[in-house]
Amino acid sequence: MVKTTVSLIKADIGSVAGHSVVAQPLFEIAKKKLAEAQKSGLINSFLVFNAGDDLELLMTHFKGENHQDIHKLAWDTFLDCTKKAKELKLYGAGQDLLKDAFSGNVKGMGPGVAEMEFEERGSDPVIVFAADKTEPSAFNYLLYRIFADPSNTAGLVIDPKMTGGFKFEVFDAYEDKSVVLESPKELYQLIALIGATSRYMVSKVWRTSDSEIVSVSSTTKLSLIAGTYVGKDDPVCLVRGQSGFPSVGEIIAPFQHTYLVAGWMRGSHWGPFMPVGLKDSKCTVFDGPPRIVCLGVQISNGKLAADDDGNPLIVDFFEDVAFNGARQEAIQMSQFLRRMGEFEPARLGPEAMEYTTLPQVLKALEPRFKKNK
Ligand code: F6R
Ligand code: MG
Ligand code: MG
Repeated sequence: MVKTTVSLIKADIGSVAGHSVVAQPLFEIAKKKLAEAQKSGLINSFLVFNAGDDLELLMTHFKGENHQDIHKLAWDTFLDCTKKAKELKLYGAGQDLLKDAFSGNVKGMGPGVAEMEFEERGSDPVIVFAADKTEPSAFNYLLYRIFADPSNTAGLVIDPKMTGGFKFEVFDAYEDKSVVLESPKELYQLIALIGATSRYMVSKVWRTSDSEIVSVSSTTKLSLIAGTYVGKDDPVCLVRGQSGFPSVGEIIAPFQHTYLVAGWMRGSHWGPFMPVGLKDSKCTVFDGPPRIVCLGVQISNGKLAADDDGNPLIVDFFEDVAFNGARQEAIQMSQFLRRMGEFEPARLGPEAMEYTTLPQVLKALEPRFKKNK
């Protein structure tokens, strides 16, 4: 049976009024480009949306993961959008396109990628998370709650298809290597790693019993590609739900509360992760707070299930009033943290600050230090 691939490829290629939101003309360019690719048969369906200043291209196709033509389509779309962003002098035009020429795969070139290929079940709900002003390890806690914490996911206790647990691929961004750990068998070791969010990030999750893929996340570290600060990595994550996977309700339940993630303002501060609907997917106060949107789609015969006019059917989950409490918490926590200004722990620790512009400021002070007698 032919397998379906869901590809979510994103980049910040310029936004309107600083690092706030993707400009409308860029959406139009991206939609036109992907509509042409759909017509030509390269992709089967698509959805264009934004997470703050990041343009998100969600595509379904039969080409498999890491396919050159799909990645080139995304790259070319970002290039076309960049051209317009430059014309309009939008802020950070072309920011995430870190390499000049496309070389077969957008990984390592700046854009973030989450892709998964699977054989469709009778019905396949997929949850799409996209975040702004944070980094891929921001999903570590979320994925732990969804796939390893029975107090979040009742199915880990109640559904016999899930009691065997899930296995996590953990990526070490500093040394470019990965390890796979099984939960619940190795839960404590898993937390030992993924609790260290500055270094480790969950890249994939499978159901242990049959190794069926259930989640993938982007793992780009722009600063490690460019060697300097070029904006945060603003990650994306796909999660399959229901029928032996965590239910949609379990997948979004961790966002009943906020939690702290790194990357707010200049990639240099801790901030509360705020779940928002698409209408609030724009960064405002102190360039944030870090925001996350969550869309529900159904994968249906290689396509996003759509209405009669071909518009994908989506549920904008975080728009719901059930997430108001988390938003209020995030606002309160923002006010609390910002009252601390540039004092740790509101500001990130020295190791993370190495990848920001702070070292330039500190370097200028070096000659003025006198050794204590
Ligand atoms: C961008 C970001 C922003 C910028 C900040 C300063 O991803 O996080 O907070 O770092 O707006 O931007 P510049 O230095 O371009 O003025
Ligand atoms: Mg930006
Ligand atoms: Mg961004």
